[in-house]
Amino acid sequence: MTSWHMARRAERLNPSTIREILKITERPGIISLAGGLPATESFPVAALQEATARVLRETPREALQYAASEGFAPLRAWVADELSAQGLSASADRVLITTGSQQGLDLVAKVLVDPASRVAVEAPTYLGALQAFAPYEPEFTEIEGDAEGPTPAALDAARGARFLYLLPNFQNPSGRCLGAARRDALAERALEIGLPVVEDNPYGELWYDAPPPPPIAARLGDGAVYLGSFSKVLVPGLRLGYVLAPAVLYPKLLQAKQAADLHTPGFNQRVVYEVIKDGFLARHVPTIRARYKSHRDAMRVALEQHMPAGCRWNVPAGGMFFWVELPPQLDATALLPRAVAAGMAYVPGAPFFAGGGHANTLRLSFVTVAPALIEAGIAALAQVLKETLAS
Ligand SMILES: Cc1ncc(COP(=O)(O)O)c(C=O)c1O
Repeated sequence: MTSWHMARRAERLNPSTIREILKITERPGIISLAGGLPATESFPVAALQEATARVLRETPREALQYAASEGFAPLRAWVADELSAQGLSASADRVLITTGSQQGLDLVAKVLVDPASRVAVEAPTYLGALQAFAPYEPEFTEIEGDAEGPTPAALDAARGARFLYLLPNFQNPSGRCLGAARRDALAERALEIGLPVVEDNPYGELWYDAPPPPPIAARLGDGAVYLGSFSKVLVPGLRLGYVLAPAVLYPKLLQAKQAADLHTPGFNQRVVYEVIKDGFLARHVPTIRARYKSHRDAMRVALEQHMPAGCRWNVPAGGMFFWVELPPQLDATALLPRAVAAGMAYVPGAPFFAGGGHANTLRLSFVTVAPALIEAGIAALAQVLKETLAS
């Protein structure tokens, strides 16, 4: 009989907690506040249909052929212009189009992480990044923070790390956003201690009160890699993201990408470029903001109305998530089956911490389901919590 010997990195591949939960929540009737799935009502289907037809009519053979690993040149130039407008020093030759920004995270780790080298992360941080980095066998260092995010003094713990992974805008999962002064202070400290930063910004455009300050990478020059995505401002299903990398890293990221998938689908890149090339996002994104802001407000009101005493949460100024701390004796993972039986789902917070712990936290997404259902979902969750606290 054949015996397969798996690589050590395969042991580090774990099922995504979120994807496992999403399977449960696909059951009809469950109000899922779990996955960070954009509202499908926000997808510009007609614009995509039109662009698809145009690409197939005007450049069918080019669009369906193998393409450059760096990405579709006009799309790279568009990204470079966008990022320059945000204060980054960006040129098209340093933009790598990726298959979602998730691939960017994998490529960055592939190029920068050796077994037992250190990677510094926020606590909590994006679970999908922990999943992308873990197979390369880093040691994670959690950076202490406050309600706003990591503190400059805490960066000293990251000295010598291969990079610090930062989500300055409406973080997944905590919803927190770094202010301008904190960004300045963090950038200054990172430069002082020679700490490279990987900035991930899928949510920056989803602000509901005021735009966030410019990216931290704008203050770091060649000391930062910056990742962006079309998933939250257009559609996630076309799997389009991008990396802006310093010249010293770019060729290695490109070679890693070639090894992974040769290139991101050229057809998708051309379709998206056709949609966005004439300022479409400037008209479209405000409609997403208005929709999500009303959802956020519905969740805030529902939490205030229904949650039992002893629970705390942030009110995010953007992004997709509320982060909830339950009374310390409650375990959000253990409670999840009861919440699902009561008709709702959330994501337990513990997997978002590289160092574990924090069993009493959970993440709620407010973007996917309609406000009336958000209310019903929060009411169901609150009822489960009240019954558990009373027992
Ligand atoms: C913080 C963060 N980074 C990256 C991603 C990956 O996004 P995509 O691969 O769709 O661009 C996500 C997805 O939810 C995310 O929340």
